[in-house]
Parts: sequence; C-alpha cells; structure tokens
Amino acid sequence: MSHIYTIGGGKGGVGKSFITANLGVMCAKLGYRVLLVDLDLGGSNLHTFLALKNPQVGLHDFLSKRCRSLGDTASPTGIPNLSIICSTHCSLEVPNLFHAQKLKIIRAIKELPYDYILLDLGAGTNFNTLDFFLSSDEGMFVFTPEPTSVENTLRFIKALYYRRLKQILKQRAFKEIVGEFMDQSGGSSIKVSELMEFIMTNNRTRGELLQARLRDFDFKMVLNQYRKQVDPALGQKIEKVCNKHFYSKFQFLGNVSYDERVHDAIFSRKIYITKYPYTHTATDIQNIAKKLTKSPSRAIPAATQQA
Ligand SMILES: Nc1ncnc2c1ncn2[C@@H]1O[C@H](COP(=O)(O)OP(=O)(O)OP(=O)(O)O)[C@@H](O)[C@H]1O
Ligand SMILES: [Mg+2]
Repeated sequence: MSHIYTIGGGKGGVGKSFITANLGVMCAKLGYRVLLVDLDLGGSNLHTFLALKNPQVGLHDFLSKRCRSLGDTASPTGIPNLSIICSTHCSLEVPNLFHAQKLKIIRAIKELPYDYILLDLGAGTNFNTLDFFLSSDEGMFVFTPEPTSVENTLRFIKALYYRRLKQILKQRAFKEIVGEFMDQSGGSSIKVSELMEFIMTNNRTRGELLQARLRDFDFKMVLNQYRKQVDPALGQKIEKVCNKHFYSKFQFLGNVSYDERVHDAIFSRKIYITKYPYTHTATDIQNIAKKLTKSPSRAIPAATQQA
C-alpha cells in the first residue's frame, strides 16, 4: 500500500510546492516509486519546480472521463521512479470540485501502485483543500519561521480538526454540540482541546471514539526558508505545542534552509536539488526524505545525483 502524504499548511508562498517537488525527487533517488499530484487546482505550478513544460495530459482528463484510469494521466518527469499528475488545465474547468468529484479523485489516488504519493495542496482552508488533506492519515505541514505562517498553520490544523469532527459526527450533531458548548462557555472562540473535553464530560463513549479517530493521524512538520538568525529549536517547540493541544501525533522532520539559488533554479528551468545537490538546502531535504521513508543513512550514489 502507498504512503500518501498530503502537503499543506494554510499560508501561501511558504514553499509547499518547492518541498513537494524536491522531496519527491529525493525519495525517487532513494529508490522508491514516487508520484506527485498537483491538487492546487486554482494555482497549479508543481510541474514548474520539476522544470517540466505544462504536460497536456492531467487530472482534467480523468474528471472529464477522457481517461478512465487516473494512473493513465501521470506523466514522466525525466527522473527515474518519479511521475507527476498535473492539474493545470483544471484551473479553467473545475476550480471548485463537487463532493463526488473529490471522492472520485481520492479513491483513485488510493489505488495507484506507488511507494509514496505526495499531494501538493493550495493555500487557505477551503473545503477542497481540507478534504484533500483529510483524504490520508499521513499529512505534512510546511511553514516558515514567520509568525504569520506559524499562526496560519495552527489555524489550518484547527480547521482540519473541525472538518474531521464534522465528518465523523455528521453536520447536525456537530452543530448541536458546538451550540451547547458555546452556550456553556459563553465564549466566542473555540479551542479544540476544550471542545473535546466538553464532549468527553457529556458523553464519554462518544468522546473516546472521537479521540481514537483523531489519534489515527500521523502528521509531519517541515520548517522551510530557515535562516541563521531564527531559533533552531522553533520547529521542535511548535511540534510540542501541537502534541499538547491536539490529539494526534506530530513529528517535526527538520528545517530546510533558505537559499537564493532556489529562484535561480526556477528561472533557469532546472530542478533545484539536481542543479545544486551539495547545498545546505539540498542536504536538509535529503535528510527529511530519509526520515520520511525511514531509509538508512547512506550516501546517495553519485551517478543518480547527476540525473
Ligand atoms: N528554501 C527556500 N529558499 C529560497 N526560496 C524558497 C525556498 N522555498 C521556497 N522558496 C520560494 O518561495 C516561493 C514560494 O514557494 P512555493 O510556490 O513552493 O510556495 P507554496 O506554498 O506552494 O505557495 P502556494 O500556496 O501559492 O501554492 C517560490 O518563489 C520559491 O522559489
Ligand atoms: Mg504551491
């Protein structure tokens, strides 16, 4: 069965697509079969980070039934073991998917024969993004050290929890519980932990069931655009906060250094990690790929570094 990592984080421009593309390349170089899926339907640009011209085949062919199998919409990337499903043409046709279309995509992704499938999501907390994120129990949050990014990530996680609670409890029961909670607390904002405590006190069986379902999540975190002046332990601190206030497992995978050459690689239409394989940023991504795949710490063969 594939590991499906949804890559999101709430804020735009933090590097979700950059990390997805370069992490995908690294995992492929480690010998895994990897598929990247661009699910940023309104602003897809994942292919650009892989230095690919806009492939003609993509998700739109599956949605419009031109391709019956989602697997047939994958394009090669030029990197052995790495394929991509683009959604550039979806931006015109389906920026807002119907629920049934989302389910169709999610179901089809789960059947694809890869070791790792990385789903690149757009910014924000719209239902498409939340539902795609929740389609797998394995998610990854990408954020930068900026307080706005950290704030948006925590808000994104909170939105995910409410969406998940709503999915489990169903809309009506969820609304009732939140209504009762607001009446009793008299507050205008809700903390996930307080809401869960409230559910637990009122209906222990239901509370335990919800907690068990939330524990299924296995979340990873990556701090991107790390600069020297930033607290090196910031990521661990955020990991601690999340493990304390939410009910799932959060694991910080590491910092990815800021590098001006990322822009240079994009402008010269090259993949960053293959153009600059020996930079701090490339090493950071390589370490994250090893942690993610639990690969033994071994050097990547020189021949594959030139790909
Ligand atoms: N580690 C880094 N060092 C330098 N520049 C970076 C780094 N990571 C990302 N960038 C740059 O930041 C910009 C935004 O990156 P990217 O498009 O991956 O963000 P995103 O989170 O996917 O944005 P969106 O939400 O709009 O899809 C790009 O110009 C990219 O080149
Ligand atoms: Mg993006």
